[in-house]
Amino acid sequence: MNYDNIISEVNNGIATITINRPNKLNALNKATIQELHDAFKDADEDNGVKVIIVTGSGEKAFVAGADISEFADFSVAQGKELAAKGHELLFDFVANLSTPVIAAVNGFALGGGLELAMAAHFRIASSNAKMGLPEVSLGVIPGYGGTQRLPQLVGKGRAMEMIMTAGMIDAQTALSYGLVNHVTAQEELMDLAESLAAKIIKNSSVAISAAIAAVNANYEDGVNGFEQEIQKFGEAFGTEDFNEGTTAFLEKRKAEFPGK
Ligand code: COA
Repeated sequence: MNYDNIISEVNNGIATITINRPNKLNALNKATIQELHDAFKDADEDNGVKVIIVTGSGEKAFVAGADISEFADFSVAQGKELAAKGHELLFDFVANLSTPVIAAVNGFALGGGLELAMAAHFRIASSNAKMGLPEVSLGVIPGYGGTQRLPQLVGKGRAMEMIMTAGMIDAQTALSYGLVNHVTAQEELMDLAESLAAKIIKNSSVAISAAIAAVNANYEDGVNGFEQEIQKFGEAFGTEDFNEGTTAFLEKRKAEFPGK
């Protein structure tokens, strides 16, 4: 599909979705959020896609936030709608995809940009990356999951400091906080993302989807994650992937998962 604000391509089971508004530091306007929704949905529904990588175009930014020019004159009701729609189309949508999503943070990830990276299942960053939630400097608060996902990832105290100071942390600090899993040179970022994706692709996609759902259950109000895990664990025994995985192990060969 052709997009105006993003590039989406599939190679070797990996869908790479690149936010492509470098002149606006890849800020998320309404059209970009809709296109991202469509691209993530297509990739998730494509049986040939086993991993999705999301990144930003250019050398400066992953995403420098929601597009401030679009919401500067919003009312209370419009503000609420903006956040709710964002969750529905992109942030909760990505977090709950059954296909693994890796965020390759190649520069500034601010506000909605960091929130998009945090909605991904895990993050890696280039050494020039800078991350922060600067919303309170604009008189607003993070509205795309930042107040929830940042404390989950880095702990309440660090999240409070980042949110209250509206400051940026560098890639090494993000690594030490556990906000990103790896830091590498910018020119090696996509190679690293692809090598992690290649490791994921070797495993059962059905089991990975079940594991994502079970891990996410820990963060849902009123859901017992352990119960979800028991349920998903049991269901795995009924899959062709389980049959292949265990048979291959016993036959001392590599598994060829059918993804069913
Ligand atoms: N929304 C809309 N436009 C944005 C944007 C955003 N979140 N972030 C950057 N841009 C635009 C700038 O307006 C500028 O556009 P212009 O050339 O038409 O004037 C362009 O992207 C380049 O940004 P600029 O500010 O000139 O780059 P810089 O290197 O001086 O500063 C940042 C980089 C990231 C520090 C700065 O752009 C910034 O603070 N952006 C806003 C971050 C933010 O508050 N995000 C949270 C939003 S809720």
